[in-house]
Amino acid sequence: MPSQVFSLVAAFGLCGQVMSQLYPNSTTPNSGTVKIQWLDEKPAYSPGTTFGVPWPRGKYQANDTIFSVVSNGDHVATESWITGYWSDSSVKWTAHAIAASALENDYTVNAVSKNSTAVPSETSSLEVTDSLDTIKVDTGKITATFSKTGNILVQELKTSSGQVVGQNGKLILRSQSSVFDDEDKQGQPAVQYFNFESKIDNVTVSKNNIARTLVSVHGDHRQINGGNSTTSTHKDWLPFVVRFYLYANSESIKIVHSLIYDGVPETDFVRGIGLRFDVPLADEFYDRHIRIAGVDGGILNEAVQGITGLRRDPGQAVRTAQYEGKKTPALDTWDTRVSSRLQWIPTWNDYSLTQLSSDGFTLKKRTKAGQSWVNIPGSTRAGGLAYLGGATKGGLAFGLRNFWKQYPSQIDISNAATDVGAITLWLYSPAAQPLDTRPFHDGLGEEDYADQLDALEITYEDWEGGYDSPYGVAKTSELFLFGFDSTPESETLANLTQYINSPPVLIADRDHIAQSEALGTYWQRPENSSASAQTIEDHLNFLTQFYQGQVSQRKWYGFWDHGDVMHTYDVDRHEWRYDVGGYAWDNSELSPNLFFWNQFLRTGQADLYRFAEAHTRHTGETDVYHLGPWKGLGTRHGVNHWSDSSKQIRISQPQYRKVFYYLTGGDERVGDLLTEILDAEKAFLVVDPRRKVRAANITYVADPEALLIDVGLDWSGQAAAWLIEYECRGPRWQEAKSKLLETMKGIANLKNGFVTGEALYNLYNGTIVPPSQDPDNKGVVGVSHLTAVFGLVEVIAELTTHFGDDFPADFEKAWLDYCYYFGASQEEQLARYGKAFGKLNLHQGHSRLTAYAAKHSGNVTLAARAWNEFYNTDGFSPDAPWKSERIDGSKVLSPVDEAAWVSTNDVGQYGLAAIENLALIGGYLP
Ligand SMILES: *[C@@H]1O[C@H](CO)[C@@H](O)[C@H](O)[C@H]1NC(C)=O
Ligand SMILES: *[C@@H]1O[C@H](CO)[C@@H](O)[C@H](O)[C@H]1NC(C)=O
Ligand SMILES: *[C@@H]1O[C@H](CO)[C@@H](O)[C@H](O)[C@H]1NC(C)=O
Ligand SMILES: *[C@@H]1O[C@H](CO)[C@@H](O)[C@H](O)[C@H]1NC(C)=O
Ligand SMILES: *[C@@H]1O[C@H](CO)[C@@H](O)[C@H](O)[C@H]1NC(C)=O
Ligand SMILES: *[C@@H]1O[C@H](CO)[C@@H](O)[C@H](O)[C@H]1NC(C)=O
Ligand SMILES: *[C@@H]1O[C@H](CO)[C@@H](O)[C@H](O)[C@H]1NC(C)=O
Repeated sequence: MPSQVFSLVAAFGLCGQVMSQLYPNSTTPNSGTVKIQWLDEKPAYSPGTTFGVPWPRGKYQANDTIFSVVSNGDHVATESWITGYWSDSSVKWTAHAIAASALENDYTVNAVSKNSTAVPSETSSLEVTDSLDTIKVDTGKITATFSKTGNILVQELKTSSGQVVGQNGKLILRSQSSVFDDEDKQGQPAVQYFNFESKIDNVTVSKNNIARTLVSVHGDHRQINGGNSTTSTHKDWLPFVVRFYLYANSESIKIVHSLIYDGVPETDFVRGIGLRFDVPLADEFYDRHIRIAGVDGGILNEAVQGITGLRRDPGQAVRTAQYEGKKTPALDTWDTRVSSRLQWIPTWNDYSLTQLSSDGFTLKKRTKAGQSWVNIPGSTRAGGLAYLGGATKGGLAFGLRNFWKQYPSQIDISNAATDVGAITLWLYSPAAQPLDTRPFHDGLGEEDYADQLDALEITYEDWEGGYDSPYGVAKTSELFLFGFDSTPESETLANLTQYINSPPVLIADRDHIAQSEALGTYWQRPENSSASAQTIEDHLNFLTQFYQGQVSQRKWYGFWDHGDVMHTYDVDRHEWRYDVGGYAWDNSELSPNLFFWNQFLRTGQADLYRFAEAHTRHTGETDVYHLGPWKGLGTRHGVNHWSDSSKQIRISQPQYRKVFYYLTGGDERVGDLLTEILDAEKAFLVVDPRRKVRAANITYVADPEALLIDVGLDWSGQAAAWLIEYECRGPRWQEAKSKLLETMKGIANLKNGFVTGEALYNLYNGTIVPPSQDPDNKGVVGVSHLTAVFGLVEVIAELTTHFGDDFPADFEKAWLDYCYYFGASQEEQLARYGKAFGKLNLHQGHSRLTAYAAKHSGNVTLAARAWNEFYNTDGFSPDAPWKSERIDGSKVLSPVDEAAWVSTNDVGQYGLAAIENLALIGGYLP
């Protein structure tokens, strides 16, 4: 069969270009070095990882620089590519993939001029064979064969010694047409059950393949036989992208599985979402092993046919070998009272671990279908990994990250007493109640906008019929596969369980990140130069610790919920307002995402990174639409992540995912989410984000050449998407750059700049003109407290460094005016704009706008005004308790720490104001 082994040739992924090979040392002129360290301590195990590094503007040209990774003076097996450019085309971000063989305490990334020395060419253990029907990737330790069509994603997994340890890797889905809403009633609906499998649309493979190969499979789910739906058919649905990452010299494969919900909530109830691999089995039943991860490194150690605990003893050596997963001594050395009676010892064909809550799992096994299950004592939070295999033929371990945090989840081992067993990892357990995505209330009789706005007055929910839809929301999970030539030690599996739940992360030196200015100049490492500054640091630490504690005490876990936090607290019930309309799930309200990431950049706290990572995964997937009419928009805070009728780009704001994206070397799934937002503006043609609150004399026309957009709220989300596309030199970067510059020009040309509020935008060419009520650009005043608090400040700050000296001066002036006047006196507003802005709030959060204006104008009085706004207006008072208190006994369901004075709106805005004020005007801190 014709095949091609790829070499270093062409473009890599969404946002990168292959550009470098390895270079060992960096002692030449024009060089730069950046220290890279593990987020936690050096891991016991790392089968390869990818990270990103920023570079200062104007210093390194792509065509003249080699990036390489060094440790202790020796080059490390890596692959480097560019993920971002400054506006002057110099390199802004690079990504580096490190092969499995290269585990070191720390690393240095070197940038050196190409002509400094000869560059040694790198050899790689990775071999990629792309043929007509399959893609074969050999890492040196494992070979995976991927199909290009059909229902099987992974045809075969083979170890380097040639043993096949996995086959027929595919996706499994089950659904049903209705649920029994009240089983005590007669006349239940006839339920149809459907079974589905993956159906591949297309498969792509990375081109470089020095340290890492990425195979991406796109498709959806197609009905198969099974269930009882013989009379009825279901359409293909639930599109997926499954990405397989294989690093050189690694026996493990990382899988990133993303699924979009495109069902009908009233008739499509998902019962199970799984990934299944077959495992060929040839060892004797007593030499076949089941390993399932339990709690804190615990492992269930069993054999398909147990020969321990029997009435007769086969011999100590036999028992020990079986328990330890080693081949038992030859059968003729066993006590014959056992070896002659093996046929009477049951074989356990199936195992099932079910985690239906974040707090407990059950475990059971059976000899075969048709016989009853036997309970195995369960426990609390399962590690999410299982192994099936034999002492001499080896087998497969398969694990799901955050297994218990994303309950209901399940692991099945099946057919272990046949020639082909299987491991199924259920991302949604078929033992749970079906996934019910119907609205949580029936509309309560709200008939029109007047009713809906009146209801908003009481529950703070902005409801509207048809808008409480999950159609288009998504979920991403991470899974890991490991192939073994023989059953591994259980301690190895315990270590792998640790690994899959906290995959090692490499982070560039944070001083370097700050100095590069690639993520703006509005944050810096804590200095603790004064007591006041230290107090602010203590408060920031309190807030990040408190939220991590609340996640665990309030059980903010589950399939759709893990990663989110709640919006507002109910002091009376000592409970977050999980059931009160707009006060429930936060859905990124007032940008806690930006606070968490900037605070991580400042402090380097590993726990905060993991917390922010989960937050990023959740908010980017489930709070945002990825297909359908609202694609690119997100949903305002609510009881369900999609229940509120306010669909806006302020929630899908790409800026929220930017730090994670670049630090991970361009996480490909997040890259997809960022790219999607390029077209969010098209959703404005379908839904007017402010339809319920428009003055009667202002009409919204879905005209693509004259769309009424908020020049802060809407523009900042779109601008962030354009900036990232421009940085990445993605396929649409020229359009993105042009729209960025055109819209900046348009906003600057508005008589009142950002103060105008809403203006008309042409989504073909990016021009912005005054709103229809002001055709002659005489000046409109339309200021809202929300305009600047969903990333506008941070996006503009990054545009400033991105463009450097080319940053448009008139746009900057429009922005500095907004920054100055938002918190200025009514008299000043009146004098400047002929009209005061009216009653505004979020002054604490807006103190960072004042600080920005103070910094850029060098105005000391303004710096004092900013600190006054920070300390003495709204938000968190310096006199707030700044601690939590224990609530227990019969007051609450279970003991909790309460800080009744905390709301997530204030956390996001206080956090950002504190960080930015310290960076911009820290020297004027009272
Ligand atoms: C590198 O790129 C820059 C800017 O694109 C260009 O001016 C320069 O000639 C290039 N140098 C080489 C060696 O190709
Ligand atoms: C790299 O540097 C180390 C010491 O820092 C030196 O021993 C080694 O020879 C250098 N390698 C090359 C290829 O220059
Ligand atoms: C590399 O070599 C070219 C021509 O040989 C020269 O123009 C360029 O300045 C050199 N670059 C560096 C960084 O020395
Ligand atoms: C499927 O099974 C359910 C419950 O056993 C039954 O109510 C329903 O009628 C069946 N549907 C079909 C199409 O056979
Ligand atoms: C692959 O298929 C998906 C749909 O599943 C589609 O959106 C995408 O454009 C396709 N990509 C390629 C390279 O054909
Ligand atoms: C498991 O990890 C521990 C701690 O990192 C290490 O000491 C031990 O050698 C590892 N065991 C195996 C079998 O890999
Ligand atoms: C629209 O009506 C509001 C009062 O509801 C008024 O203040 C405003 O001036 C009107 N705008 C125009 C363009 O007529």
